[in-house]
Amino acid sequence: MQNKAIILQTGGGYDKVTIGSREAKAPVEGEITVRLHANSLNYHDFAVVSGMWGPIEPRIPMADGAGIVTAVGDGVTEFSVGDHVVSTFFPTWLAGEPLVEGFATTPGDGVDGYAREVVTTSINAFTLAPKGWSHVESSTLTTAALTSWRALMSDDALKPGDTVLIQGTGGVSIFALQFAKMAGATVIATSSSDEKLERLRSLGADHLINYKKTTNWGEVAREITGGRGVDHVVEVGGPATLDQSMLAARVGAHISVIGILTGLGGEVSIVTALIKQLRLQGLIVGNRSQQKDMVKAINANGMRPIVDKVFPLENIVEAFQYQETNKHFGKICLEM
Ligand SMILES: NC(=O)c1ccc[n+]([C@@H]2O[C@H](COP(=O)([O-])OP(=O)(O)OC[C@H]3O[C@@H](n4cnc5c(N)ncnc54)[C@H](OP(=O)(O)O)[C@@H]3O)[C@@H](O)[C@H]2O)c1
Repeated sequence: MQNKAIILQTGGGYDKVTIGSREAKAPVEGEITVRLHANSLNYHDFAVVSGMWGPIEPRIPMADGAGIVTAVGDGVTEFSVGDHVVSTFFPTWLAGEPLVEGFATTPGDGVDGYAREVVTTSINAFTLAPKGWSHVESSTLTTAALTSWRALMSDDALKPGDTVLIQGTGGVSIFALQFAKMAGATVIATSSSDEKLERLRSLGADHLINYKKTTNWGEVAREITGGRGVDHVVEVGGPATLDQSMLAARVGAHISVIGILTGLGGEVSIVTALIKQLRLQGLIVGNRSQQKDMVKAINANGMRPIVDKVFPLENIVEAFQYQETNKHFGKICLEM
């Protein structure tokens, strides 16, 4: 049966976004069929759809998808028809140390993603969604939430009382704030907007810095800790923010090198990393086991994601254009 799908033509770019259809076959052993209902947008999906890292062949975009299981193949015991599920960023990296380099196995980039009504795929491409969440809410987890979860709770487990520095009010940073507060940490948050800083306060941020007005925000963050420095930085800015992040950090701090919002490369102070014996760790999202741990923690804590705006699937270009304005606070989603 043919089902609606967004198909990004070779090379990408907003003018290469088309609405077409794809067939979903019946699931065989180890597979499930999912009726998708929502996607969420990430900078990575923007890079693919806008043509920055356009695909080399026609591709269904979007790594983050959520929906309901409508059929299971032989031998599948992990899922039942009717389960609410959310996609995994690396369907081939199930647990343990990273096994993947780059995005060749990532839905919406190296393989087809979830901007479509129905998919039949391996059980490893999904996990159960949090209990009671809408499909839109669940779709926010695959990329942004799991990245923050892994950075703070898996690769360098937070302790209550630790201090975490987050940057801006995009999807990754707001999940980092929520997980850090869940773990009993103190959060220093930055934003370019005083209005957004107030919203961060209402979500539990303890200290607020406007990084446009306070350009030495790293030093100011360190002063907030009494001169000791922060324990963890969720670094999403990239080359233009890493130096300030290192200034904010305590000796031996963990800096999760996650984002490229200010570019792909540039000059950074290696000597600060050496003198402070910092642990800079590049990471890409996380594995399926970490996603299951994250969903378990969400179920136990009653957390809800911050969804800024929801667009119909067909308005995917408008949604990415909205993301480009940086007006959003939290996640932008698509619904079908
Ligand atoms: N490595 C990974 O696994 C991974 C996973 C997910 C995302 N990422 C990367 O992480 C970055 C953030 O992703 P996202 O999905 O959260 O993006 P997003 O939702 O589009 O975040 C945009 C927000 O980032 C903030 N920002 C922009 N420039 C900034 C700067 N110079 N300093 C501080 N904050 C700045 C702005 O917040 P204000 O408006 O409040 O200033 C802006 O609204 C992207 O580069 C993305 O590619 C990496």
